[in-house]
Amino acid sequence: PVGAQEFIPPGARTLDELKAAAAGCRGCELYQHATQTVFGRGAAHAGVVFVGEQPGDVEDQQGLPFVGPAGRLLREAVDDAGIDPADVYITNAVKHFRFELRGKRRIHQNPGPAHITACRPWLVSEFALLKPEIVVILGATAAKALLGPDFRVTRSRGQLMPWPASARHPEDFPVAQTQALATIHPSAVLRADDRDTAYRGLVDDLRVAAGAVG
Ligand code: URA
Ligand code: SF4
Repeated sequence: PVGAQEFIPPGARTLDELKAAAAGCRGCELYQHATQTVFGRGAAHAGVVFVGEQPGDVEDQQGLPFVGPAGRLLREAVDDAGIDPADVYITNAVKHFRFELRGKRRIHQNPGPAHITACRPWLVSEFALLKPEIVVILGATAAKALLGPDFRVTRSRGQLMPWPASARHPEDFPVAQTQALATIHPSAVLRADDRDTAYRGLVDDLRVAAGAVG
């Protein structure tokens, strides 16, 4: 794939400008089958930025991130952790839905390393404008995009990390005084055998993030 970089308007000053440009991105092949680009949403001044994996079926149809079941659970957890929803921006590591058709059903497929790399420039541009206080990384795909292939969410979740020092390409993230924290993806809570315990773990991690915003 050619990557998203060439679709990013140089000198873009607003998230709306980025979102409009991302609608025409052809940086990898995922745009071909998905309905639309699903860009981030939320406050431009947000202190807390959540990064998920990629839009799901519902998000692909509605054009907004985290509006399906995982999103409902995430909003609940944000609330229970005491994070102000007005202080939140939510986006994804990959901005088109990757799926496999089985009959008429569209089955979620994890994005591959090439998709993650191709789409990273959008994430970098979002961070450059948002300058978040803390970046909350939801699950393994976002962790791969931001922290590299060796990072293990299960081992290092719930810990505040300096940013961009721990990032894989720190030069890409011109963000002063930002911290990062990784946790499990809300979809993993939905799939867990013991949902209550998994949910409490997610909320506990998010409380650490809540404590880091001023
Ligand atoms: N899962 C994600 O990672 N992102 C979404 O937007 C929805 C579900
Ligand atoms: Fe562009 Fe990302 Fe969509 Fe690929 S997934 S076409 S890089 S916006």
